[in-house]
Amino acid sequence: FRFVFIQDDRWKSLFQGLGNTLVITFFAVMIGIVLGAIVATVRTTYDKNNGDMKKRNPVGFYILSIANVICKLYLTVIRGTPVVVQLMIAYFIIFATSNNSTAVAVFAFGINSGAYVAEIIRGGIMSIDEGQFEAGRSLGFNYGQTMIYIIIPQVFKVVLPTLCNEFIVLLKETSVAGYVGIMDLTKAGDIIRGRTFSAFLPLLGVAAIYLVMVVILTALVGCLERSLRKNER
Ligand code: ARG
Repeated sequence: FRFVFIQDDRWKSLFQGLGNTLVITFFAVMIGIVLGAIVATVRTTYDKNNGDMKKRNPVGFYILSIANVICKLYLTVIRGTPVVVQLMIAYFIIFATSNNSTAVAVFAFGINSGAYVAEIIRGGIMSIDEGQFEAGRSLGFNYGQTMIYIIIPQVFKVVLPTLCNEFIVLLKETSVAGYVGIMDLTKAGDIIRGRTFSAFLPLLGVAAIYLVMVVILTALVGCLERSLRKNER
């Protein structure tokens, strides 16, 4: 406590770091959801349609196959390599000329999260009974309409707890942003460690802040879950 509040303005570093951590996490989550939804849609559409579509619409099937291969490659590379390395590739190679490192981090974490979210959503779609798809078809919906009106509302409910998990992981994973010179929460703690020669206590403070954020996030998702369950009845 004394380290953070009484001597100079160290708490300002922590606030700045907290702000950066929240900004990076928020926008990375947004990118992750959009990207994950697209990849999951491509993968399930391919898995569900590849029998009859080949004859009905060979060109469409060809494009879908290529998209499916690209998605698989993306999942393999992103989930198979450490996020620190991905962040560094984004920072030192892809955006070598950019000087907005926060935006680079948002990009890198967004791409990373998208791979995990894609598999979460795909799992959710596969958990929906085949009869629900058939019900959509029997109401005269096409594949897209069946997805939008019948499948996705159910998938959303199934996927919510795991998605919350992913956001918690991502929130804490942004602590590697310090590797490319971003002052996030953990980096702020590190700076205080360097100045005070206190090796442990500043990190304990940082951990408490992460804990508060995770508790708030969990509570919000809990509210959403409860309201969705109310609609169900
Ligand atoms: N620490 C792991 C890595 O370095 C996990 C990365 C992020 N995880 C996530 N669910 N977005 O690759």
